[in-house]
Amino acid sequence: MDSGFAREAVATRLLTASVRTSYDPTVEIDWTAPHRPGAYWLPPERSSLYGTGIWERLSEEQRIELTKHEVASAASAGIWFETILMQLLIRHYYDADPTSRHAQYALTEVADECRHSIMFGRLIEATGCPVYRADPVDHLLGRWLKTTATGPQMYAAILIAEEILDAFQREIMADDSLQPLIRMVSRIHVVEEARHVRFARDELTRQVEAAGPLALGYARLVIGRAAYSITRRLVHPRAYAAVGIPPAAGRAAARANPHWRATLRWSAQRVLDHLAGLGLVSGPGRLLWARAGLLDR
Ligand SMILES: [Fe+2]
Ligand SMILES: [Fe+2]
Repeated sequence: MDSGFAREAVATRLLTASVRTSYDPTVEIDWTAPHRPGAYWLPPERSSLYGTGIWERLSEEQRIELTKHEVASAASAGIWFETILMQLLIRHYYDADPTSRHAQYALTEVADECRHSIMFGRLIEATGCPVYRADPVDHLLGRWLKTTATGPQMYAAILIAEEILDAFQREIMADDSLQPLIRMVSRIHVVEEARHVRFARDELTRQVEAAGPLALGYARLVIGRAAYSITRRLVHPRAYAAVGIPPAAGRAAARANPHWRATLRWSAQRVLDHLAGLGLVSGPGRLLWARAGLLDR
């Protein structure tokens, strides 16, 4: 099939699916509903401190509180990624044919992400947790990525962020022991993100085929850095302070925690396999995947 035709066919299908299942979280979610007492916000075994000595010393109430702050941290990271992503898509659209389904789907995805970032903002507000912002270095790298990234590194960075969050959210939405609010947020996000993942995977394949060896070498490095920033950023160290753990001690315990390392690998496995299959996880960029704890050296 001609690649322009195939691209339009994918976008047409995704546009149809967007009409069928899109949610407005300001209407769909009862933001004022009371939280369920005694329910975790994440499966406890997905907490970054699960199984550590610190975890053993926390009361049940503190463990629940920690998972709530971990969720608020991931939602803060989600907003950060989505803001970057929206700008990447708008930049892509700037050069595209506005009559094409491809360009129209890119705008539809921006519209989805607008609603998602509002949803994550409402979620953070409902938890009563602070907004856990990226540190100044990542904030600056994010600004650089959203201003400059094109081609393979743009779509690969999108996929890494989307698929890692997606792994957690699929598990959350299926677990009826968890807080109803986070399950509902996860369900809406998973449904709409499935389209984004399809779009990015399809586009990434085309971009890799079109890129020369130099561009691919550079892309592998940026992709490794994106994987590193995203996984490091999931749990903000200040989240630990909410249950009386000094941030540096909490972060060190999480990094050394085999359960958390296994969780990170589990969450990134699907996107890692996909990117490795396209030859995008090698060279110096591979070391960054290893430093993020997602690969053996
Ligand atoms: Fe999203
Ligand atoms: Fe998305």
